[in-house]
Amino acid sequence: MTPIPSTLQNRSMRGRVAMVTGANGGMGRVIASDLARLGAGVVLVVRSADQGEALKREITQATGNLEVDFLVTDLSDQASIRQMVTAFHQRHTQLHVLVNNAGIHLQDRQLSRDNLEMHLAVNHLAPFLLTTLLLDTLKRNAPTRIVNVSSQAMADTRPVPFLGQPQPAVLDLNDLQSERNFKPVLAYGRSKLALVMCGYVFARRLQGSGVTVNALHPGIAATDIVADVAPPPARPFLGIIKRFLLTPEQGAASTVRLASDPELEHVTGKYFVRVTEQRSPESSYDLALQEQLWSASASLVGLP
Ligand SMILES: NC(=O)c1ccc[n+]([C@@H]2O[C@H](COP(=O)([O-])OP(=O)(O)OC[C@H]3O[C@@H](n4cnc5c(N)ncnc54)[C@H](OP(=O)(O)O)[C@@H]3O)[C@@H](O)[C@H]2O)c1
Repeated sequence: MTPIPSTLQNRSMRGRVAMVTGANGGMGRVIASDLARLGAGVVLVVRSADQGEALKREITQATGNLEVDFLVTDLSDQASIRQMVTAFHQRHTQLHVLVNNAGIHLQDRQLSRDNLEMHLAVNHLAPFLLTTLLLDTLKRNAPTRIVNVSSQAMADTRPVPFLGQPQPAVLDLNDLQSERNFKPVLAYGRSKLALVMCGYVFARRLQGSGVTVNALHPGIAATDIVADVAPPPARPFLGIIKRFLLTPEQGAASTVRLASDPELEHVTGKYFVRVTEQRSPESSYDLALQEQLWSASASLVGLP
């Protein structure tokens, strides 16, 4: 068993249950392990049973925590998310923390099984649907937390990624699926902006319920997604580039903090860059735009 790192000492999650999506990824496996190390029962959301079995074994051995379960789903497929939530309810009655951590970055425009642009489907609509389906359980078990792993890329709306003149980050509700204007970093950034904006709506609607909703940018960490973000000419240098980035452990620490720090129990509707509370792009605070996005998102996942 590996010892509890000093950053996690004085926190206990004994008797709590946490669900982590993308639990098999670079930061997800650290988040899940750290929450297990703090005593939480963890539900690993992964893409295959093989991944789930191996990760469950790894976390149990590393932490000594036997309360590790896994559920299989493809977050780009809404029917699969619904099936996973049904399976969750058959096996668990409690949930205290939902970490919407899974995310993708693609170089081309792809469509999901539901015929939705893939960044929007996985990075925004999947957490939107999952959160909605788990909301009653989270309310019943309050105080509970929802942590949305976003990205500072939501503020980068340059027409030419990294180079062009930055423009104010505003979601185009008429082109949510990037049909007219697809650029990889922009599509990724917009989906992460949508995640933050609907998080603000959830936080507002859940005021007084004991369920908090916060989002964060975890920092740039050396995980697999970096290879997906890097344009092809930069790929031969990935090994060198990764040495200058945060480790997955350093990146995961801020998510684990939002999920477990007792000092944050009543903090809700906030955006953090690592551990520092910051303002998200100005347009994300536009209440009318938030509500329009909410309605569009609900309609895209088939909710009233
Ligand atoms: N690394 C960074 O610098 C950085 C910066 C800002 C924000 N973020 C965000 O941090 C989060 C964690 O990313 P990471 O850096 O740990 O990247 P990662 O190693 O690529 O992990 C991404 C995780 O998401 C899962 N996932 C992707 N598509 C899925 C789908 N359709 N269904 C189910 N699971 C799916 C992956 O599953 P598989 O293992 O099966 O592929 C993987 O476990 C993401 O939301 C990312 O956008 C990362």
